[in-house]
Amino acid sequence: MRLYIDTASAAAVAEYRPYGVIDGVTTNPSLAAAEDTSYRETVERLATVTDGPLFVQVLAEDADGMVAEARAYDEWADNVRVKIPATAPGYEALDRLRSEGIDAGITVLFSVPQAVLAAKNDATFVAPYVGRLEDAGEDGTAVVAGIQEAFDVHGFETELLAASVRNRSQATALYRAGVDAITLPPDGIGDQFEHHKTSEGVSGFHDDWDGRGSPIGDADE
Ligand code: E4P
Repeated sequence: MRLYIDTASAAAVAEYRPYGVIDGVTTNPSLAAAEDTSYRETVERLATVTDGPLFVQVLAEDADGMVAEARAYDEWADNVRVKIPATAPGYEALDRLRSEGIDAGITVLFSVPQAVLAAKNDATFVAPYVGRLEDAGEDGTAVVAGIQEAFDVHGFETELLAASVRNRSQATALYRAGVDAITLPPDGIGDQFEHHKTSEGVSGFHDDWDGRGSPIGDADE
């Protein structure tokens, strides 16, 4: 199971990298627009802080434009995976890019049929937006479970990457469903480490130790 960090900030990736749990980076145009530099520079900066997959989204709305952008991104860094929105031209672009051997998949995806069509076109991944479905009052984790089931039944190897995950309870449901990957924003990853009983427990141990010093003694002893 892979955990990705959803950000365009190389500093945020660098901050979370030492914890050893991050397998790659997902970005989107909204996140990249908040950076102080070009799309290319943003992607190149992210490539310096991750060896894992780096998901970069196209902005063109026609298939030719998407293919041109994807080919360019593919030159910007070795680990780029191109994110293509789930529109009809997006599926055409996906088919063409996969025939060229470029890593690409479908994003902004909300249903089992959209995911199955992507897998049929040999998508490297599909990224269903769980949180946006839940924001709209739908059961986002059930849609992901449905994609998981359809992929298993048909033997598709496309990575199921749950995106737009808003909180720990959504993440828990997705982990339990056995998804291949989840992407979380930086503070969402920080939140995964937290439990109030952990803070309370650690604090209690320190209180009971009552300032007795380091269990391995002072460095200069
Ligand atoms: C995924 O790759 C997207 O960048 C992201 O998860 C979308 O999340 P949002 O719905 O919080 O914008």
